[in-house]
Amino acid sequence: MITKVKLPNEKLRGIKMGGGIRDVLDLATKVEKSGKTIYHLEIGRPDFDSPQTAKDAAIKAIQDGFVHYADMRGVEELRVTLSEKLRRENKIEVSPSDILITVGAAAALSTAALTILNSGDEVIVPIPCFLSYPALCEMTGAKTVRLPCRFENGFRLDPEDLEAAITDRTRMLMLNSPNNPSGAALNRDVIERIAEIAIKHDLIVVSDECYERFIYEGEHISIGSLPGMKERTITVGASSKTYSMTGWRIGYMAMPDWITPHANRTHLFLNTSPTTFAQYGYENALRNAEPDVVKMIKEYKERRDLVVGYLRDMPRFDLVVPDGAFYVFPRISGTDKTDVELCGYIMEEAGVAIVPGEAFETPGFVRIAYCKQKDYLIQAMERMKRALERL
Ligand SMILES: Cc1ncc(COP(=O)(O)O)c(C=O)c1O
Repeated sequence: MITKVKLPNEKLRGIKMGGGIRDVLDLATKVEKSGKTIYHLEIGRPDFDSPQTAKDAAIKAIQDGFVHYADMRGVEELRVTLSEKLRRENKIEVSPSDILITVGAAAALSTAALTILNSGDEVIVPIPCFLSYPALCEMTGAKTVRLPCRFENGFRLDPEDLEAAITDRTRMLMLNSPNNPSGAALNRDVIERIAEIAIKHDLIVVSDECYERFIYEGEHISIGSLPGMKERTITVGASSKTYSMTGWRIGYMAMPDWITPHANRTHLFLNTSPTTFAQYGYENALRNAEPDVVKMIKEYKERRDLVVGYLRDMPRFDLVVPDGAFYVFPRISGTDKTDVELCGYIMEEAGVAIVPGEAFETPGFVRIAYCKQKDYLIQAMERMKRALERL
């Protein structure tokens, strides 16, 4: 019997394991096994196929023999194409040699955390947030400083709150605009103010821009494009959401040259390099799949409007209309059920799976992912509405 090794280890011990999501998923599986249909609005996974042009390029790469390790930084063609994309679309000037191709955005985030953070450092994480941010910070021994973004403020980070949260131990700020789970996108004024604060307090900003194209109101601004920010910003992106290529596992981080050799080494030790032929698929998507993206984004906007239209009329929810991503994050009102209990009720009574806000460190809310066809969403929303009217 093993007695000396105790799990979770000290670093994992303090990490919340997405409380609530598992409960919903377990319940969904149980209900489905009993023969009932479940409408899945819990998963943040695009439902479109990956672009044909990306598939063709990846197949060609396999046939042409690109089946071995690539350059540890990622294949050069992809880094060059991304550098052009970042200059053109994000207004970030970055050399291909300061772009690292990673195993999805997930590996860019873990590489950034492991490269930059020391034990005892503080990282400011605006809440609600993508589950991984606090976990990754804590796995490095750093401390997550949670910065609530208020519903009343459209879940947008308030620069005054940010400045108040900074101490002499703060090293990093995690930004995610448009945000998972709230869908909030930061406007230029707020981003400029955040940049001023980051410069004043000498912070690194990790800007997770996975949902940059999923913006239905306003424009996407990359903080790394603002004056004085290039040297302190790591911009994270991926093929996953924009091109519906979640399973290809290709993302990237664009960074200042003083970070590059260290980040390259971290990612090398963790992953060696991402799948070679998948990188050719992403490179091709960046050049040729714009028509697919435009079509998908138009459809997502219609889905958002449809779901928001239903939620506005639904009892028990208050709503901020999300600017982007593919989530709605309404506040529960007029019931004393917790978010976990309400998600359980909606699952059992309506056959709809959604995620409690607790999973994003924001109890009292639920997340609805609208990565499904409109007919499916209509069915799910109708069922939810009827169940909530009975509550
Ligand atoms: C905000 C955010 N960042 C990063 C990721 C991870 O992306 P990838 O699949 O490219 O690793 C996700 C996935 O849901 C996400 O929502």
